[in-house]
Amino acid sequence: MADPERHPFLQGLSKHRGAPPTVVVIFGASGDLTARKLIPAIYNLSFDNLLPADFHLIGYGRKPIPDEEFRSIASAAIKDYSRRELDAEVWGRVAANTSYVSGGYDEKAGFDRLAAKIFSIEKTIGSEAQSLFYISTPPSVFGPIIQNLGASGLGSRYVGKAHHSKVIIEKPFGRDLDSARALNAELRSVFEENQVYRIDHYLGKETVQDLLVQRFANSIFEPLWNRNYIDNVQITVAEDQGVGTRAGYYEQSGCLRDMIQNHTSQLLALTSMEPPGSFDAEALRDEKVKVLKAIEPIGLGQGGDACRAQYAEGMTAGKSVPGYLQEAGIAPNSSTETFAAIRLFINNWRWQGVPFYLRSGKRLPRRVSEIAVQFKKPPGTIFPQKEGFNLAANTLSFQIQPDEGLSMILNAKIPGLETRTQPVKMSFRYATTFGSNTPEAYERLVLDAMIGDGTLFIRGDEAETSWKLYTPLLDFWRSEGRTGMGGYAAGSWGPVCADELLSAHGHAWRKP
Ligand SMILES: NC(=O)c1ccc[n+]([C@@H]2O[C@H](COP(=O)([O-])OP(=O)(O)OC[C@H]3O[C@@H](n4cnc5c(N)ncnc54)[C@H](OP(=O)(O)O)[C@@H]3O)[C@@H](O)[C@H]2O)c1
Repeated sequence: MADPERHPFLQGLSKHRGAPPTVVVIFGASGDLTARKLIPAIYNLSFDNLLPADFHLIGYGRKPIPDEEFRSIASAAIKDYSRRELDAEVWGRVAANTSYVSGGYDEKAGFDRLAAKIFSIEKTIGSEAQSLFYISTPPSVFGPIIQNLGASGLGSRYVGKAHHSKVIIEKPFGRDLDSARALNAELRSVFEENQVYRIDHYLGKETVQDLLVQRFANSIFEPLWNRNYIDNVQITVAEDQGVGTRAGYYEQSGCLRDMIQNHTSQLLALTSMEPPGSFDAEALRDEKVKVLKAIEPIGLGQGGDACRAQYAEGMTAGKSVPGYLQEAGIAPNSSTETFAAIRLFINNWRWQGVPFYLRSGKRLPRRVSEIAVQFKKPPGTIFPQKEGFNLAANTLSFQIQPDEGLSMILNAKIPGLETRTQPVKMSFRYATTFGSNTPEAYERLVLDAMIGDGTLFIRGDEAETSWKLYTPLLDFWRSEGRTGMGGYAAGSWGPVCADELLSAHGHAWRKP
């Protein structure tokens, strides 16, 4: 089908990236993620003709839901959340092969019913089909689902063939090093590592992948990408929303677990890793693990490398909003941080002595994620240090969201009859160059898992390496309770302690 929104630059992209007949099973199919992201992703893959000819979708959950009702729920989700309007013909193709199996997550009989359903689909299409199990439930049932995929034999089907069973597992992947190790051990008791796709949807974002292209397909950056030219790197993942209706989840999580350990650290790894030998899953993930292992332990306590805080009441988008402790469902003495900033040093030849500053928080002035690479200032300047000679450090920034793109701050001469200078911004914006209707992260990730490409997923050792870095800090903060917890007004860029992490090295946060 022709897509009128398709930008000329997108014409000719490969179709059918080679997925075999596939049955996608979503555990937790009545949930929020399924409605907001997974069903729209499958619909848009169908729209782009990227699903295999024999594609089947099965929802699984405890609530008994008739097939027809599940199809209506799914079409409503597309209307509400898809980046494209619901097209009856496109959805009809998927809906014809969509069904629902109800059962408990710890109930073997439910998985036997699921297996029978999958066998009957294979019989109908007349060939073997890979099963892609998407675990989209709260983490408390990850374990029972994995065990029952093992007990029912579904997890080990076609091992040794390209279309072996695969499992996608949602975040959070553990809540500290011990629980991540335990979850990995549970997965390994049923699956081989190449069957497991641990998702961090940040890796499915266009600009995150563009970071790899910018770094490794342009020769101008690599010679400068080191301690000789780079002064510091600042990674910001900011949310403007408060905790909203997710108090129960957030109280158990906090900013470090929710954002820094996964999304922000993935951005750090991709920015700082060595060039991989090839663009394949193992080469890329080897380099990410290597650089994560080279990060020095985080200094704890007063004068250390970390700062945490909770938002207090303030103003966002012209409205007055309550502080975290006043939000519904939050304990009045909660010690859950809604903001965290960390200073990291990577102990290798490329990065020795270059601070990497990470920050993330709720109720910041706007929703924005960016990586800003600040270069060193020239060793001296021939231009006078006086009014009219405004000079800034060159900064290359990757804007991950929103308004995806890349910009570079350079110093330029102000036009006129005398020489005066001013920093200027050179920008590339995805929406302007390629059109604005780019695929959502989940489309890319579901497709990659279907075709067996693990490049944009987290490997087990990578998840553990990241938890190993942050677990001592989480333990320290837990032992401190509310001692040392900073505060910041909702709508501000965070607490004073975050500024102090940088000012100790003569730096300041850039305004994204
Ligand atoms: N929502 C998001 O935007 C988002 C973003 C990133 C990651 N995630 C992760 O994706 C997963 C799913 O998120 P979600 O927001 O869709 O979750 P959810 O709506 O809370 O739960 C999904 C489904 O799991 C089942 N379920 C809920 N609580 C359960 C419990 N205590 N025991 C057993 N089953 C339970 C329910 O289905 P039945 O009652 O029908 O069985 C529910 O519809 C989570 O691991 C979450 O951390 C979500």
